[in-house]
Amino acid sequence: MIKKAIILCGGTGSRMFPATKTTNKQLLPVYDKPMFYYPLSLLMLIGIKNFLFIINKGQKENFLKSIGSATDLGINIEFKEQSKPNGLPEAFILGENFIGKDSVLMILGDNFFYGNMLSPLIKDSLSTKKGANIYLYPSKNTSAYGVVELKKNGEISKIVEKPIFTKSNLVITGMYTFDNNVIKYAKKLKPSKRGELEMVDLINIYKKKNNLNLIKLGRGSAWLDVGNYDDLFSASSFIKNIEDRQDYKIGCIEEIALNNKWINKHNIKNRIKFNNNSNYSKYLKGLI
Ligand code: DAU
Repeated sequence: MIKKAIILCGGTGSRMFPATKTTNKQLLPVYDKPMFYYPLSLLMLIGIKNFLFIINKGQKENFLKSIGSATDLGINIEFKEQSKPNGLPEAFILGENFIGKDSVLMILGDNFFYGNMLSPLIKDSLSTKKGANIYLYPSKNTSAYGVVELKKNGEISKIVEKPIFTKSNLVITGMYTFDNNVIKYAKKLKPSKRGELEMVDLINIYKKKNNLNLIKLGRGSAWLDVGNYDDLFSASSFIKNIEDRQDYKIGCIEEIALNNKWINKHNIKNRIKFNNNSNYSKYLKGLI
């Protein structure tokens, strides 16, 4: 069972300048909470308690301020700085000590997943002992993502990053699980033409070894990657629309921790203080 996760919160956020000149993209609000709350909450929902945040140099203080006490959330958080955006797979090299001898899940800090069938589906995949799992979503915008092309018999034919043309609509979302070999394989990767270690190169190693599992997210689920202002606006309005209509918040990490019995009323009271007189605090009061 996978018990550890890396949340990737580095990158320059240059597509969002000037908003991200002084702040990390993953700290920007998506409607009523910081962006990274959403991937964090999904992983807490599936039972993961141990996290490594990969962040940019000098940003630890800001993340600590934004999260507050991890103890009051019933989770453990470590941080590791990435000197510059050398590519997503560098996370496994920087995270070597954190991963130890275990398997690991990685999620991108700018990815948002929603749907009530998702957590059982992902939870189920955490028991994979060998190889890698990638989670696919049908998208019109294939040139912005990693894409999996399938043969007629359903086998993988090709995995490519941001193809200009493809017949496939299956894009690779920003969530992956890997067995412990990932550290060794990540160390072997060479930077691509754009000067970064590429996720698809890592995934292709698992494909070559016949050790790659494809998990398709159902059409009743939503997946958004917040790469630019339009995505930020879409994700915020999606969350606002749902939160306005139902009496639940999306991505409330305290609620998930309480339901998981990782924390108690006392911790929620601390989080109410932490969030002061906000609507978020009012919601927390409603939980107890
Ligand atoms: O969102 C899914 C897509 O994410 C996948 O389909 C692609 O295969 C994968 O390469 C990735 O593509 P992006 O172009 O969206 O990656 P981006 O450079 O935007 O980085 C994603 C997140 O990772 C972002 O929140 C910043 C962070 N990051 C990125 C790099 C390159 C880091 O923390 N360190 C890095 O070195």
